[in-house]
Amino acid sequence: MSTVPVIAIDGPSASGKGTVAQRVAQALGFHYLDSGALYRIVALAAKRAGISWQDEAALADLVSTLDIRFEHGEIYVNGEQVSDAVRSEEMSRGASEVAVHPKVRQALLEVQRAFRKAPGLVADGRDMGSVVFPDAQIKVFLTARSHVRAERRYKQLMEKGIHANLAQILADIEARDARDMQRSAAPLQQCSDATLLDTSDMTIAQAVDGVLALYRRHSRGISK
Ligand code: CDP
Repeated sequence: MSTVPVIAIDGPSASGKGTVAQRVAQALGFHYLDSGALYRIVALAAKRAGISWQDEAALADLVSTLDIRFEHGEIYVNGEQVSDAVRSEEMSRGASEVAVHPKVRQALLEVQRAFRKAPGLVADGRDMGSVVFPDAQIKVFLTARSHVRAERRYKQLMEKGIHANLAQILADIEARDARDMQRSAAPLQQCSDATLLDTSDMTIAQAVDGVLALYRRHSRGISK
């Protein structure tokens, strides 16, 4: 087992995990893993290769052909920048469809664990604390009420100038939550050893401070 500290932040879509995780990583000088981006990349690469999101074996084989790099906030796959392409609503759905397959999850396991490097890692996703880094020093389950999450996603899209429909976003979020929670392979769930952080009535800064406080308390505990 590695001694490099991991802060695992899991939770449903649009809960603010990504923003919170990145800011925590920045504050501590840790590396950051956006595990959802990996599932998005598989969905995009499959679409381009003409592989169905239901074809588990072909999807798992595809993973080994992908050279994935996160550099300066951008995502590169086999040398091509795909940061915006993987963020589309189509790839949000595709990611949650390819993510149900155990072989795809297995193929991505080592890719994810390779991010655990000194001085530490903040990893965000659905199964960071339960499957990928079960020995993580800190496990947080970050969530918010679905209406709040839909409004946040709506605002984000409007700010980018993308036309959006709030009712449709809420329906998509609830469908994705259901798929993520009901699948048999690594379903989205709060681990018994994770701390619940409901950000419905919190600012991003308050959520970041909440995670940093947990980490500091943990670090003080081990230095005693
Ligand atoms: O940003 P958002 O929360 O909407 O999605 P994401 O974190 O980019 O993840 C996209 C999809 O990938 C999720 O709906 C999950 O189905 C899947 N996923 C997963 O199964 N396991 C992870 N560790 C991360 C994402």
